[in-house]
Amino acid sequence: MSAGNQASGGGMPGYLKSLFPMDWELVRHAGAEPVPYHLKKWWFCLGGTPLYLLVVQVLTGIALTFYYVPSPQEAYASVAAITNDLRFGWYIRSLHKWSGNLMIVAVFLHLLRVYFTGAYRHPRQLNWCIGLALLGTTLTFGFTGYSLIYEQLSFWGATVATNLAEAVPLVGGQLAYFLRGGPVVGENTLTRFFILHIGMLPTVMFALLGLHILLIRMHGVTELQFEGEKVSKEERFFRFWPEHATTELLIGVLLMYLLTILALVFPAGLGEPADPTQTPPHIKPEWYFYFSFRLLKLTSLHLSVALTMVGGAVVFCWPFIEEWLQRKYRVPESFSVVLGVVGFLGFLILTVWESIAP
Ligand code: HEM
Repeated sequence: MSAGNQASGGGMPGYLKSLFPMDWELVRHAGAEPVPYHLKKWWFCLGGTPLYLLVVQVLTGIALTFYYVPSPQEAYASVAAITNDLRFGWYIRSLHKWSGNLMIVAVFLHLLRVYFTGAYRHPRQLNWCIGLALLGTTLTFGFTGYSLIYEQLSFWGATVATNLAEAVPLVGGQLAYFLRGGPVVGENTLTRFFILHIGMLPTVMFALLGLHILLIRMHGVTELQFEGEKVSKEERFFRFWPEHATTELLIGVLLMYLLTILALVFPAGLGEPADPTQTPPHIKPEWYFYFSFRLLKLTSLHLSVALTMVGGAVVFCWPFIEEWLQRKYRVPESFSVVLGVVGFLGFLILTVWESIAP
């Protein structure tokens, strides 16, 4: 028997494995990760939903990049051509838009589930912080993507957003200049947003996701137990592969249905082309920035930015702040629940208020 034949012992799978000589037992072990019982309910495993939607966005985004032209003179016309002239262009664009929006909803829901089940507590504090960086990256994806269309509302939305960035203490001037590519929103801004949207943000997103999943794998998912729930010892955990992976795949198929229905009923539209000389009477950002836009209207530019930054910093550091409060003042865990409800209601009220305002 030749050396090549020896390496291929065990039929075709053995032959294929010999072409890529890694520790396959380790891969099998990684796939057999025990998953806690409560992840059988989809609302507890919402982390997989943004992941699936991200894949849809990457695939549709690559398709759109072949036809989109990132220059102020041609951007709007290229989006119009994708929507009206290209075969299935409207569908790909609508899938991209809706998967982006649903991803933001899913990330928010995942954050709420992690917060209200206390899954951010020791030893998972770092993963909470990485999660928030993922949320920030997702929102920046949405904002830069919307600006690429170069219609009136998206153009003026970018103008307001860069004004907000300018009001950030200490680094605001440089940050706004970097985003605009000059003193005002102009020729360079679109190219910068395009580079952010298709180059920098995906890199950051995948690096953060890698870390997030690595930490989940190292800590395992928090096991939740509910009053009155009778789960036998053997049932407390099930296997990631194939049981949990099958549930996630099924959720993926249902999401594809939902995305297609949304694309058919509410296809991505196109407003008036951007006119830098004409401020529209009503500027509105995308819905996920309604809360900050309402805050801006209720306070002032600098105060709203300061409040958003302080709020964001508190949420980011909350696992550590809570630990400190518990050690120093013996604050009960229920305090975090009350604070979470108040914070979430505040966010919801500002969002709904802005959405119904003219
Ligand atoms: C692109 C966005 C995100 C993706 C794809 C993602 C993915 C996941 C996945 C797949 C899990 C495993 C269990 C589950 O499904 O809940 C998980 C757990 C976790 N995520 Fe995320 N996540 C994202 C954003 C966030 C955000 C915004 C936060 C919070 C600020 C966060 C904090 C956590 C924590 C602390 C865990 C561990 C939960 C536990 O042990 O029960 N993640 N994430």
